[in-house]
Amino acid sequence: MMSIRHLRSWILLLFLICTAVLNFSLSDPDSHLVRKKFLMKQKVRRMFYHAYDNYMKYAFPHDELKPLTKTFTDSLSELGNLRLEHLPQNYNGSALTLIESLSSLVILGNNTEFVRAVLWLSENLTFDVDARVNLFECNIRVLGGLVSAHMLATDSRNRFSQGTYKNQLLILAEDLGRRFLPAFSTPTGLPYAWINLKYGVMENETTETSTSGSGSLILEMGALSRLTGDPQYEAAALRALRKLWSLRSSLNLLGTTLDVVTGKWIEYSSGIGAGVDSFYEYLAKAYILFGKDEYWRLFQSAYVAVQKHFRHGPWYHEADMRTGHATYWQLTSLQAFWPGLQVLVGDVAAANSSHREFFKVWKKFGVLPERYLLDHQILHPTEKYYPLRPELVESTFYLYQATKDPWYLEVGESIANSLNLYTKVNGGFASVRDVSTMVLEDHQHSFFLAETCKYLYLLYDDSFLLDQNYIFTTEGHPLPVLAAWHDRLPEVYTSNYTFLQRSNLVRRTSAMSMQICPAITVSTNNNKKGDQKRESLCHVADARSDHRCLSDEDCGVDATSCRRRSCSIAGYCGLWLFV
Ligand SMILES: *[C@@H]1O[C@H](CO)[C@@H](O)[C@H](O)[C@H]1NC(C)=O
Ligand SMILES: *[C@@H]1O[C@H](CO)[C@@H](O)[C@H](O)[C@H]1NC(C)=O
Ligand SMILES: *[C@@H]1O[C@H](CO)[C@@H](O)[C@H](O)[C@H]1NC(C)=O
Ligand SMILES: *[C@@H]1O[C@H](CO)[C@@H](O)[C@H](O)[C@H]1NC(C)=O
Ligand SMILES: *[C@@H]1O[C@H](CO)[C@@H](O)[C@H](O)[C@H]1NC(C)=O
Ligand SMILES: *[C@@H]1O[C@H](CO)[C@@H](O)[C@H](O)[C@H]1NC(C)=O
Repeated sequence: MMSIRHLRSWILLLFLICTAVLNFSLSDPDSHLVRKKFLMKQKVRRMFYHAYDNYMKYAFPHDELKPLTKTFTDSLSELGNLRLEHLPQNYNGSALTLIESLSSLVILGNNTEFVRAVLWLSENLTFDVDARVNLFECNIRVLGGLVSAHMLATDSRNRFSQGTYKNQLLILAEDLGRRFLPAFSTPTGLPYAWINLKYGVMENETTETSTSGSGSLILEMGALSRLTGDPQYEAAALRALRKLWSLRSSLNLLGTTLDVVTGKWIEYSSGIGAGVDSFYEYLAKAYILFGKDEYWRLFQSAYVAVQKHFRHGPWYHEADMRTGHATYWQLTSLQAFWPGLQVLVGDVAAANSSHREFFKVWKKFGVLPERYLLDHQILHPTEKYYPLRPELVESTFYLYQATKDPWYLEVGESIANSLNLYTKVNGGFASVRDVSTMVLEDHQHSFFLAETCKYLYLLYDDSFLLDQNYIFTTEGHPLPVLAAWHDRLPEVYTSNYTFLQRSNLVRRTSAMSMQICPAITVSTNNNKKGDQKRESLCHVADARSDHRCLSDEDCGVDATSCRRRSCSIAGYCGLWLFV
């Protein structure tokens, strides 16, 4: 029989073993990572709910929250409408932020709230409103939000109790899609940028649209066609995309804006930021989602042209589509999505180097300014704001997925800390009006919930991606990659949408397994042996390794004064006022 004393020493021994194991596991880098991810996940969760609950309390069913005054704005009709023209008289919002939150709720695992929101929208949302909206914005936020949520509602995970979900979101999406179609009735097939949801294209509507506005509708409208079996949405978007591509220059570059009636370019200068960005993104993603080689061919030509004419080391400037000459030397906050796209197509090394530069600018100011003048290394005089944009954290998420380098988790933590420190207020999260003073603005954009919080969360918890391959739209709404969609359109239009075959789901570990521009080994120095590095097949090397100019032509126009810049003897671009 064991004496009490023996028992005591056994317990002591057991205790010592346990502490040793515990100590070991705490100092184990893997468990440190697990702990870090867990804590960050909780932190991001709190951020999302702070934004969401305040929206629901003070703004719902209006479009977006004004977090400082704890009130609302019906901003769907204001998006992209800088001069606030033709604002509707009798529009009370479309619950925009709720629609944008649907897929985030699923990713956060909140099925109860997701179901509640879907049921509310089913009964209360209508698009029969006299509101003039931006086609592109409405497509990525509302149509994309609805289509994605529909697919999440009908996937195999049974979020709804039997029979409660009757494709209500898809019916809403189809109603919205039909209201988009009149915009495409132009001589070129390029859609008008603006459409009145109730009355179609308005009299005297502007004929100017942008490359992204007319050339990146294919994911949402294509998905709508696949789901409903009605090919006209995909056909309209594809026709516009092909037309746009046919208007490219001999350098395979596109401008920023053009006329939908004449097909003539208006703004010849373009880059990878505002007005163009998602055009490139959707070529690559459409290839992944629909498996059509045409998208990949277009993407590759377009991507190579960008890397050749816009890239300057880790930076991307803007250039004239006709000549390829640099026009503006500026970093814009929207460009920060580019490294994420590069990861998706396999150009990880280039993505990594650009991402690091963007993060440096983030750290310099605490958040990313809308525009930063690379030539002067200063803020743009008027565009000093940071409206809670997601692009940097989006790229961080992609890079972490591709490399699993824990450094990206620290980047995410630093971004989350800045957001909490500078933009969190009692009533939600507020945009920064001026990054040099951190003065806030009374606006919580819906993309903060659709994208910023979602990508931050996915950085620390990607369990959502484990048993299904998704692509994310430019608004962060996930669409599953389905084998069935890689075939032709369903032959019969079935209005009850029952043909979505669960058995046809493609199983992949994550979207990152879809590297369509694989890495190759290249020699970096012809004289030395073994001096090799891994580069993507799509990578375009710099013409000059020092990124310096050779002639004035390389330098373009100064972004603040609009004066031509010149190249100094030492090879730097600038306004050499005293020379
Ligand atoms: C919007 O709200 C106002 C005030 O509550 C109401 O009079 C109006 O009928 C509403 N408009 C619509 C389209 O429901
Ligand atoms: C889901 O969201 C609602 C609304 O914010 C919240 O009350 C609830 O606690 C959430 N549930 C979970 C499981 O997080
Ligand atoms: C639709 O809106 C009304 C008014 O806000 C609300 O009473 C009703 O519960 C909503 N429907 C659903 C299904 O939530
Ligand atoms: C459209 O433009 C014409 C000519 O400029 C003008 O007479 C007419 O009032 C305009 N219509 C609207 C609805 O603005
Ligand atoms: C990213 O860049 C850093 C710093 O230059 C380097 O240490 C790291 O190996 C790079 N990672 C990849 C995947 O290229
Ligand atoms: C739904 O669609 C299927 C497949 O086309 C068809 O067989 C069925 O009759 C339809 N059901 C209803 C209620 O329309």
